[in-house]
Amino acid sequence: MKNFKRTLVTTALPYANGPVHIGHLAGVYVPADIYVRYLRLKGEEVLFVGGSDEHGVPITIKAKKEGVTPQDIVDRYHTIIKKSFEELGISFDIYSRTSSEIHRKTSSEFFRHLYEKGEFIEKISEQYYDPEANQFLADRYIVGTCPHCKNPNAYGDQCEACGTSLSPLDLIDPHSTISGAKPILKPTKHWYLPLDKHQEWLSKWILEEHKEWKTNVYGQCKSWLDLGLQPRAVSRDLDWGVPVPVEGADGKVLYVWFDAPIGYISNTRELLPNDWEKWWKDKDTRMLHFIGKDNIVFHCIVFPAMLKAEGSYNLPDNVPANEFLNLEGDKISTSHNWAVWLHEYLQEMPGKQDVLRYVLTANAPETKDNDFTWKDFQTRNNSELVAIFGNFINRALVLTQKFYAGVVPELGELAEIDRETITEFQQVKCKMEKYLDVFRFRDALKEAMELARIGNKYLADMEPWKLVKTDATRTATIMHVALQIAANLAIAFEPFTPFTAKKLRDMLGMSEIKWADLGRTDLIMAGSTIGKVELLFDKIEDDVITFQMNKLEESKKKNQLLNYKPADVKANVPFEEWEKTDIRVATVLECTKVPKADKLLQFRLDDGMGGRTIVSGIAQSYPEPEKLVGRQVLFIANFEPRKLRGIISEGMILSAVDADGKLVLCEPSREVKPGSTVG
Ligand code: MF3
Ligand code: ZN
Repeated sequence: MKNFKRTLVTTALPYANGPVHIGHLAGVYVPADIYVRYLRLKGEEVLFVGGSDEHGVPITIKAKKEGVTPQDIVDRYHTIIKKSFEELGISFDIYSRTSSEIHRKTSSEFFRHLYEKGEFIEKISEQYYDPEANQFLADRYIVGTCPHCKNPNAYGDQCEACGTSLSPLDLIDPHSTISGAKPILKPTKHWYLPLDKHQEWLSKWILEEHKEWKTNVYGQCKSWLDLGLQPRAVSRDLDWGVPVPVEGADGKVLYVWFDAPIGYISNTRELLPNDWEKWWKDKDTRMLHFIGKDNIVFHCIVFPAMLKAEGSYNLPDNVPANEFLNLEGDKISTSHNWAVWLHEYLQEMPGKQDVLRYVLTANAPETKDNDFTWKDFQTRNNSELVAIFGNFINRALVLTQKFYAGVVPELGELAEIDRETITEFQQVKCKMEKYLDVFRFRDALKEAMELARIGNKYLADMEPWKLVKTDATRTATIMHVALQIAANLAIAFEPFTPFTAKKLRDMLGMSEIKWADLGRTDLIMAGSTIGKVELLFDKIEDDVITFQMNKLEESKKKNQLLNYKPADVKANVPFEEWEKTDIRVATVLECTKVPKADKLLQFRLDDGMGGRTIVSGIAQSYPEPEKLVGRQVLFIANFEPRKLRGIISEGMILSAVDADGKLVLCEPSREVKPGSTVG
């Protein structure tokens, strides 16, 4: 690692077209905040910059849909995002936005500088144009039939049905989503950053000089470089964004991926108008970009090429990108509302910021995609935060209250076991640093938790609650050591769970804390008093988890209904064939679950012809089969009898399959005689 005096930490600017969710947090903001808090505890000079990304086509589409302006959309979400980050304790030095005046100025100047230096190439290409709306169409504004799966609603950049990336020219029968018109091809001029010209130094810089980057990051860069870099357009025909600051570029704006990373610079300037340059240009400043894996190419290749072309800026030293977090087994999706939204979490789980921070770190997608489940959230809270960390602190402090009226007892002579315990907990600092320094926050957190485990074990082995009756001096020493472990926990957990660490500091009467003090055994003095003892964490009950899971279930159902596409109709059948099927009505006499088969129900039917038994695979849709007694059903009466689980089933009961996969029995719309034919 290079020598540096200060560290600039940036976090990907989230798009202000929706609130942030746990995927954003686990991938970017929680790890960045842990790292920054760690550096601050070490007394290092650090600047933590964030903000909202307020340009780009999806924002304009959302605005159109709602009949409001793009500015209205970004105002709404910027406010929500900023407030929710604050409440979660993401300790930005500045959280600003790319629709600000200073950003327009900074990104314009940046473009202009590159333009004047001849760092761009100009190219005219044919692009789709809407002749009725009189405007060029961004890829997302064009829909047509996917050439691969024939989905009639594929977008110009991607088919969401089969996941293929597309170019608008691939679409069959394209039309504009603005006017519905068939788009025409029209020439348009754009500016391109010739990445091919940067290929050589980029390859050397990344592949040779940054072998220490995380393997997922290094690997992605290598495959881009191996493919060979191509020029990339840095402007678009659009009316939302930073205008291209060149004569004759009316109706053109900077491409969102050109202006957004410059937002890091604008936000630094906004915070430190006179002092911002040292964070970007001094050689002894180190720059780190915290991002998700979908942002790697922009932060490791495109933005560095922009900075290099400009000439006076530093390049990033590391880009610790994370993989993705899934939710209950499915990919998190803003448009499908498959997410746990931060602002909702904060509202529904007041005071539980640290639980979320803890769970997202313990389960962070650092090396591979990971899954968030509410069950795991509950378990980690109840059996780790409550049972280990919370329990140790509570025991140590409650006993101090009880034995010494809250006054920290004197340390007596140390026994062998005390020395062993102290040596063990003193190793935690070094182990945590080893992980924190290379952005392995899950492992660092495990070590912090280990400290609480050491404390718990010590108290459990020493049993001061028994010893106090026979040996006051020994009890005092044990409690003194236990309180030092508690004080160490207040330091070790500060980067991860800052609200809890503060609560703990307050209880222990610690004012200033420093990373360097971790491992010390004199953090609180004998004779000082501890404050009112409160629980650090509360148990999370099942009903809280059930509420969250039901909420997700609802959202899944809504999506299934929204995206429902009926199955293809089967090949035609001639009337004579069809006529062979004999459908009848019956009344349910009995209905029971088939033992040891979770899908099967056994029906006894009044079919008007002496009765019959049918076994049907609808048990999961009808959890209370006895309620079906008395209802009427349709069934195929001449279906060859089959043996299912030892029961002869004489026919087949008809049910519809709903969008969510649930089976719904078909019933005549008024009661008819059992045995009636259907046709
Ligand atoms: N808005 C982008 C995203 O959410 C990230 C932009 S990062 C920046 O994927 F560097 F461009 F700001
Ligand atoms: Zn498709």
